[in-house]
Amino acid sequence: MKFSEYMTDWLYGKDGYYATYKNIGKSGDFYTAVSTSKFFGGSVAKHIISLVDEGFLEQNATICEIGAHHGYFLADVIEFVYTLRPELLSTLKFVIIERFDDLQEHQTNYFKESFGDVVSLTHYKSLSELKCKNAFFIANEIFDAFPCELYFKGKTAQMQDHEVAFDVDNEWVKAKAKKYHKDRGEIAVGYEEFAKEMAESCDKFEFMTFDYGEMQARPDFSLRVYVKHEVIPFFDESIKRNELFGKSDITYDVTFAHVKDAYEEAGVKFVELKAQMVALVDMGILDLLEILKDNVEEKIYKQELEKAKMLIMPNFLGERFKMLRFRKA
Ligand SMILES: C[S@@+](CC[C@H](N)C(=O)[O-])C[C@H]1O[C@@H](n2cnc3c(N)ncnc32)[C@H](O)[C@@H]1O
Repeated sequence: MKFSEYMTDWLYGKDGYYATYKNIGKSGDFYTAVSTSKFFGGSVAKHIISLVDEGFLEQNATICEIGAHHGYFLADVIEFVYTLRPELLSTLKFVIIERFDDLQEHQTNYFKESFGDVVSLTHYKSLSELKCKNAFFIANEIFDAFPCELYFKGKTAQMQDHEVAFDVDNEWVKAKAKKYHKDRGEIAVGYEEFAKEMAESCDKFEFMTFDYGEMQARPDFSLRVYVKHEVIPFFDESIKRNELFGKSDITYDVTFAHVKDAYEEAGVKFVELKAQMVALVDMGILDLLEILKDNVEEKIYKQELEKAKMLIMPNFLGERFKMLRFRKA
């Protein structure tokens, strides 16, 4: 089978890694910025409010997270909208795109526990089901969870019994590899369709996404498996793929130029790419920490500050992760 099919089964098959609720975060297989600090979602909330103030977003805009997993990110955004501009809570519409029923249920329960009936959350299985006039889309670490093909010097991989053989000619993969200057590496599958679905779902929107990668990824394999915070390169000699299949996360560095091209082909304008720490500071994370300082005991402030620092510290999440922003107006 194609590698993209193998990876789809690994992550999204019946017993795939993401098909059931997983404990991502401190006790799970990997951290994301979402599980690090509430001030990640808080900064995005501040940005959303500035978009309302500048008139890009209407008071009744749709705020939509894609690939939400626990739902913490959107919930943190909502909590900070409530703190900073409570009246918006009753006019904005909150949506999560989540293809798995099991995860939808967890997210619904988490929202009920957090907000009772004050916030209503709508789910769709895919962007193609959403139709709206004005929206803000957010996603954290989804492009590194799209299936990919593996390419090596002109040939595309096939998988059999968890073994890789580079013995197929695939012109689409070859053309992408050439475009992104790779003689080897991962070529993501599905960005084009995803960008098109988003562009068709809404007349005017901003899309902000965070991921690990580079505009032009290194011409090498970055494919790796995360299990209990241990990282195993997919081509490691001692890897036991049959044991890890479906039970661990599999990911790779995102080639942002590929995401950018997919959105531009769909008629959406690329706005910027910057380090996550720079993006969070620009959106006002430091102002939010100041507000916290003025309103809570010092002990609590210090605890929250330590967590928030992880987001904006070089050499941790802050520098290696990037923020990408697109607009359709
Ligand atoms: C690495 S996890 C990140 C989860 C969460 N956003 C966080 O930051 O903790 C990747 C998530 O993206 C979702 N995902 C990947 N491709 C997707 C797509 N095309 N549409 C919706 N969700 C997608 C997966 O189901 C998974 O929940």
